Amino acid sequence: MKLFSVKLRASKDGKHISGAERITPYEKINTVINQLYHRLSRKEFDSINIKIDILKEQPLLVEKTLPVVNMNFKNHREANKWAIQIIQKQTGLSEEKIKQLIDLIHFGASPDRENMRGAMIVDLRGNRLEKNRSRGVRTTDVDYLDREKIIRKLKEKCFTERTADALALTTKNMLHSDIIAEYCISDEPDYLTGYVSTKEAYYRLTPLKEKGNEKGGRIYFVKNGADIDKIYRFLEEKPVLIKDVDI
Ligand code: COA
Ligand code: AMP
Repeated sequence: MKLFSVKLRASKDGKHISGAERITPYEKINTVINQLYHRLSRKEFDSINIKIDILKEQPLLVEKTLPVVNMNFKNHREANKWAIQIIQKQTGLSEEKIKQLIDLIHFGASPDRENMRGAMIVDLRGNRLEKNRSRGVRTTDVDYLDREKIIRKLKEKCFTERTADALALTTKNMLHSDIIAEYCISDEPDYLTGYVSTKEAYYRLTPLKEKGNEKGGRIYFVKNGADIDKIYRFLEEKPVLIKDVDI
């Protein structure tokens, strides 16, 4: 069956506000555009860009997302302490180095101290490897085979649609053999839940950032000597469809 990638992104005053994507058969393109438009247009925008492309290769079919582990903390400092410990165990980096990297995300990781447009890539020596420190790398072309079923399942357990998107994105990341952990906080000032992922689980941590902070971002921790071009190609180009959620 021919499948299409549908991507929408909204901006205001030349600044990206939000974006979303789906992988869908031809017959559903119209419905999907309407759904995504409905979602993006909740925020004030002056431009929405819609991109539709046929998938050039069949998607990789994945049985399940990472298992979801939900954790609540007294405040964002406690949550970050826990996040640092789990990243330390996975990467062997010192707690101090991990804290420095996480601080960059909380204060603006691009050279102009704004949010990056994608994720930071860091190896196990603590070196940043993204080709462009303002852009980083963006994980795209990932979706669920039957999104309605997944949303129903997540909602039964009181998770939101946003969790579905983050979980899909990070599940794709963890499929790459050189990516061993991820840290993420949203750039929305009121959305305080963030996550750390490893090959074993998606740890959803609340609150991982301070209320009112407009900074956010992602760090992908990769093995030393990882082929960065290959990582970019996989994350940006390889289509992935996930069959079920592990909750
Ligand atoms: N943040 C800031 N700017 C962004 C951006 C982001 N997340 N995504 C796109 N842009 C802007 C940038 O200026 C970018 O130029 P750049 O490549 O120099 O950074 C420009 O838009 C074009 O980017 P492109 O990658 O061609 O956009 P696109 O039309 O393919 O849309 C999105 C990409 C927005 C759909 C994608 O980035 C995204 O965020 N997808 C959601 C991921 C997700 O949740 N997946 C799970 C689905 S289940
Ligand atoms: P979001 O999860 O959309 O709130 O995005 C949080 C941060 O993650 C953004 O500020 C970007 O730095 C980064 N980001 C956004 N989209 C992507 C993506 N598709 N892949 C990797 N990083 C992203």
